[in-house]
Amino acid sequence: MILDHQVGSEQVPWRHGFDHGVEPSVLAGFPYVWDDLREASRAFRSDAMPWTMWYLTRFDDVQAALQRHDLFSSEQVNYNVTDTHKWIPAQIDPPDHTQYRVVITPLLGVAAMASMEPGIRDIARRLVDEIVAAGGTGCDFVDRFARRLPSGVFMQLLGLPTEEADTFLAWAGEMLLTNNAQDPTGSIRKQAARTIYRYLGDTIAQRRERPGDDVVSRLLDAQVGDRPITDAELLEICFLFYVAGMDTTSGVLSYVFQHLAQRPDHRRLLRERPHMIEPFVEECLRYYSIVATSRVVRDDVEFAACPMHAGDRIVVSTTGANRDPRHFPNADEFVIDRSPNRHLAFGAGIHRCVGAPLARLEVRIAVQEWLRTFPEFSIDPHVPITQHVGGSAGLDNLPLVWS
Ligand code: HEM
Repeated sequence: MILDHQVGSEQVPWRHGFDHGVEPSVLAGFPYVWDDLREASRAFRSDAMPWTMWYLTRFDDVQAALQRHDLFSSEQVNYNVTDTHKWIPAQIDPPDHTQYRVVITPLLGVAAMASMEPGIRDIARRLVDEIVAAGGTGCDFVDRFARRLPSGVFMQLLGLPTEEADTFLAWAGEMLLTNNAQDPTGSIRKQAARTIYRYLGDTIAQRRERPGDDVVSRLLDAQVGDRPITDAELLEICFLFYVAGMDTTSGVLSYVFQHLAQRPDHRRLLRERPHMIEPFVEECLRYYSIVATSRVVRDDVEFAACPMHAGDRIVVSTTGANRDPRHFPNADEFVIDRSPNRHLAFGAGIHRCVGAPLARLEVRIAVQEWLRTFPEFSIDPHVPITQHVGGSAGLDNLPLVWS
């Protein structure tokens, strides 16, 4: 990566070849590396892809960019795995986007969460019980818990048989965790995506035959504007729930529990004052924000002092934004009761995460249920930990030990 500050009259530096998904410095230094990138320059650009990528790292610019769907489109963003598909509503611009959000939002709203909470708690308890039953004094938290909880929750959401949980995990592993370096042509990801689409398509057909009490069944009669929703649209929604809710939540869980393993004072505080779990989760979401999302520039525009051209991409890092000292006092400190804590971990604007209430609930329940059984734990210093970065970041493994 070469940093070139002098490019004609334009002062936005190039980081030649920079791709945040495979860049070694990001892989090694996430999330702190985004502090260096943000402080080095308000924005920078990269030629790693066939189009120019403008990276925005500061809170105000990231928030403004996410709110400017008139300047930046979500429609042509290709996430590499689904050539012929458009994820609804993530890859849809207004006015259609609004019609889909009206349909989807209640499915994951406050009332829906109240009814899901007991089921999520059951899954978390079962996972903890399985770890206890396996005996021993440690486990890979990512494998045994962080990936299984969101996967189980997704299956509960869609009313899928829990026996198929492991199969789902395997598909997710292939589709989401394989980066450009491991899968240069994207063939592994595309194959996994096709398998998941086929499975979800079959599920929709089954629900048309025999509706149940699940999200798919509730969507069957939805109206998009003044017409009934189609099965193809339903499929894209279900698929998006799958990709948007699994890797993100497991990534956040991995950093939350790495943090807890390293901070006995925070473990003790949360055990003694359980009402602190909510602000703790919120601060984790800010401090370890995992998502970097992108948009396509609609027309030539100057934004954040960057001379952008139609067809360029912007990449906005919620990690850089949420650790920006211009917005958060003592931004690089983990303040367990930070208030206010208006972060961008779930994005901003019309595409703001529709699953935020579910994600918060899952992480809160995970902390409660884990601490109940494992009040003390730490990280096995003999096992190297690796992480993945890109669209969303997370630890690949987290070797926890207890006595
Ligand atoms: C801690 C876990 C999560 C994080 C950090 C997260 C983060 C985000 C972010 C930053 C966006 C906006 C992306 C953009 O503007 O391009 C987003 C969108 C979205 N998320 Fe989440 N998410 C999480 C969990 C979930 C869950 C559990 C679900 C539900 C199953 C979900 C469903 C969605 C959907 C459907 C969208 C697209 C919304 C739209 O385009 O209107 N997310 N998420």
